[in-house]
Amino acid sequence: MSEPRDRIGDPQERPEELDAELSLRPKRFADFVGQRAAKEQLEIFVQAARNRGDTLDHVLLAGPPGLGKTTLAGIISVELGVSVHTTSGPALERKVDVAGLLTNLQRGDVLFVDEIHRLNAAVEEVLYPAMEDFEIDIMIGEGPAARSIRMSVPPFTLIGATTRTGLLTTPLRDRFGVWQRLEYYDVEELAAIVRRSAGILGVSADDASALEIAGRSRGTPRVANRLLRRVRDFAEVRHEGRVEHDICLAALDLFQVDDEGLDKLDRDILCAIAQKFDGGPVGLDTLAVALGEEADTLQDVYEPYLIMQGFLKRTPRGRVLTRTGFAHCNLTPPTSTGTLFDEG
Ligand SMILES: Nc1ncnc2c1ncn2[C@@H]1O[C@H](COP(=O)(O)OP(=O)(O)OP(=O)(O)O)[C@@H](O)[C@H]1O
Ligand SMILES: [Mg+2]
Repeated sequence: MSEPRDRIGDPQERPEELDAELSLRPKRFADFVGQRAAKEQLEIFVQAARNRGDTLDHVLLAGPPGLGKTTLAGIISVELGVSVHTTSGPALERKVDVAGLLTNLQRGDVLFVDEIHRLNAAVEEVLYPAMEDFEIDIMIGEGPAARSIRMSVPPFTLIGATTRTGLLTTPLRDRFGVWQRLEYYDVEELAAIVRRSAGILGVSADDASALEIAGRSRGTPRVANRLLRRVRDFAEVRHEGRVEHDICLAALDLFQVDDEGLDKLDRDILCAIAQKFDGGPVGLDTLAVALGEEADTLQDVYEPYLIMQGFLKRTPRGRVLTRTGFAHCNLTPPTSTGTLFDEG
């Protein structure tokens, strides 16, 4: 999969961006804003495990990018007082990779597997008995003399994160005792995150600016933090560094983040469906080609928010632009496709 295009709200591989994200990452439940239900439940499960001196049951965290899955995995480990070992679905290529990881855990440790929907079948098979009975089968020898022996591994907690629960196999999904789905954040919660981050970064931002950034962050803390840092750059270069509402508006305008939080690429998606495909339905792959973007990236990163905001609909025949979507492109829907807007 190719890298997503450079975008103001996206994780980028630049080290200073990653450092900034790390420094803003809450370390304890108390600092984690929003997701009330998920947070409260996880706090209870963590405390119960601690009180019993037990390992926490395996946890599956699902939801769109940037909502706090990795953050929560870190918080759970800190609150449990254990170490976290981090890996990801695509990084675990061979059975021995998993066996090596598991045998090196200390009792009660957390194994965090990001993008767990991208594990291959062979690796998954090693995980089943490991998750269920804390045992693994390893092959000794080669050829006809090869035999498999069962070996125990220290009890551990697997925390899996995924942006696509639908892609998880049933046997894997069933081995998680705790499932949490993270939701998009509301503006008040995002404003609280912006104020917290501004405090950590030493940026003086007024309340109106915090709300403005929050309102354009697509319900996503990672986007809120990134917009804050870009607005700070603007304020430092063009003004004295103070983030005030008019400065904030000028910055967001310059960065082409509109008042719905959509950036140029989001608008390109909507306008391509409107203008090249008469509002749809258009298949995901065709749309991806038309935009020069990976289908996976469109589906995981861009679409969820556009769908949630009612700009776009997923139908069995493909993606369809809604009336709101047309309106956002300053276009009127073609009358011949009126039936597309029937609910269902
Ligand atoms: N509830 C929250 N309160 C405060 N900050 C948060 C919260 N959730 C996320 N963040 C911030 O957003 C950033 C992105 O969160 P995180 O990396 O945990 O997302 P993710 O769900 O793992 O994303 P991805 O699917 O891309 O891996 C974090 O660095 C953190 O600073
Ligand atoms: Mg993550």
